[in-house]
Amino acid sequence: MTTIKDVIEAANELAYSEALDTDLPLVKHIDISTATGLRLAEELGANVDVVEAGTYFMDCMIGQAYKQKKLDKHVEMSRDAAADLMDKIKFDDKDAYTAILKCVEEHHGGVDFHSLESEICCNADCYRFISIEGFISAVRYLRDMDFEDLVKLLRNKVDEKWNALTLDICKEELEPQYKLINQMFEQLS
Ligand SMILES: [Fe+2]
Repeated sequence: MTTIKDVIEAANELAYSEALDTDLPLVKHIDISTATGLRLAEELGANVDVVEAGTYFMDCMIGQAYKQKKLDKHVEMSRDAAADLMDKIKFDDKDAYTAILKCVEEHHGGVDFHSLESEICCNADCYRFISIEGFISAVRYLRDMDFEDLVKLLRNKVDEKWNALTLDICKEELEPQYKLINQMFEQLS
């Protein structure tokens, strides 16, 4: 019988192989959001397994979407890839199956979350840009970009992710880091 641990293993494999093949998302960013998601799930009493699968799946097709110039479709593409993979390994726990797909669908927020697990995935995603660790990883990755474009992209990403945060615990943790990053941007202009 296929268990959620099998889903996690397959999701992990898919997420990291896509990241290595396409360079997106950054391996470091997958590490950050998964570790954060697991920590939050434990602290908030959520289903740790659903969150772990969700954080692996949530941007798993962003590299393919970028290559096909369909970046705005990466959420749907990642959701479909997650569904295909769970179907392929015959994962038949309907509630967990739906909860995992919702984690992917809702990872940019702006919705009434299906579950706490979904909300945790969305908040964990934000650490990819507004934690100092995630921010520095992004700067390193994008180092070859035109400087003005790089600054613009990062400023937008940082604000987008700050606005997507919903959990108080995450806002408290990230506020000093968000302020520091913004102070740095202010010194540039
Ligand atoms: Fe995304």
